[in-house]
Amino acid sequence: MTTSVPLSNGLRMPQIGLGVYLISDIAECEASVKSALETGYRLIDTAIAYRNERAVGRGIRASGVPREEIFLTTKLWPSAYPHEKARVAIGEAVERLDGGYVDLLLLHQPVGDVTGAWKAMEEAVDEGTVRSIGVSNFAVTDLDALLPKARITPVLNQVELHPYWQQPDLLPYLSSHDIVAEAWYPLGHGSKSLLGEPVVLAAASSHAKSPVQIILRWHVQRGFVAIPKSTDPAHIAANIDVFDFELTVAEMSAIDALGKDRPMFRMPRWAMSALMPLARPRPRA
Ligand SMILES: NC(=O)c1ccc[n+]([C@@H]2O[C@H](COP(=O)([O-])OP(=O)(O)OC[C@H]3O[C@@H](n4cnc5c(N)ncnc54)[C@H](OP(=O)(O)O)[C@@H]3O)[C@@H](O)[C@H]2O)c1
Repeated sequence: MTTSVPLSNGLRMPQIGLGVYLISDIAECEASVKSALETGYRLIDTAIAYRNERAVGRGIRASGVPREEIFLTTKLWPSAYPHEKARVAIGEAVERLDGGYVDLLLLHQPVGDVTGAWKAMEEAVDEGTVRSIGVSNFAVTDLDALLPKARITPVLNQVELHPYWQQPDLLPYLSSHDIVAEAWYPLGHGSKSLLGEPVVLAAASSHAKSPVQIILRWHVQRGFVAIPKSTDPAHIAANIDVFDFELTVAEMSAIDALGKDRPMFRMPRWAMSALMPLARPRPRA
């Protein structure tokens, strides 16, 4: 079972979860969510743009895990940011997920009518359909623009974060504002180079764990939330089996030292506001 981190609104969030980006095969998405929950996961990360929210809801119900034990995240895409559109989009996402409420709703990208969407998200918290609200892909300048207008401070920022890209400007800002850092592409999108780093291999050997488990343990000990994606039940089980060992200070420092000065993946701002969904499922959920 995973550890959890406190959020600034008093709730706690599991540190390891399942991300379902690019799981466009609906049956596979449902099976992965069910498998993860049966293995002990309690955090699932989806988005309106992933077009698999109904499959996530079905996987949750099929698992038999009580809804109140699960922390469910989804994200609003910028085409739905204007205030009235956002209110409708939030209601539709809650209906598709079919769990009564969303634990965490994120602004997926820092473009478009961020203020209108944030107001709609605050209203959803007031109305009880959403328990926590946060952002994704927000840089320091984007947060500086949002915070003065926000009645509710974002609890979390979901960004690219792994040993090769440790967000050197953003992380100190997040901790000074009590905003949790959540890692997308926590394994560098399954980067062979990262998983083959000698310091990662050495730690894997000394703890009898896999390189993936070493990277995920590094996220846990840094205090991040990480949402590795997998559709392989063995990988899903392995990815949460990281709570029975501890990396040493020297191992943590050696992995910290892998940090580079730029992200591995960067979406241009024009693409952030594109109307096209990120994933094209077959068939549509
Ligand atoms: N907010 C955003 O803008 C944003 C952007 C991107 C991603 N995300 C979120 O981040 C999540 C994670 O991203 P991601 O899915 O591509 O990157 P990732 O989790 O870093 O890497 C996933 C890759 O690693 C492989 N893998 C996972 N566990 C493994 C294991 N134990 N052993 C060997 N290989 C393993 C997966 O293959 P298998 O399926 O074969 O295991 C897959 O190819 C997404 O699902 C989504 O929820 C958010």
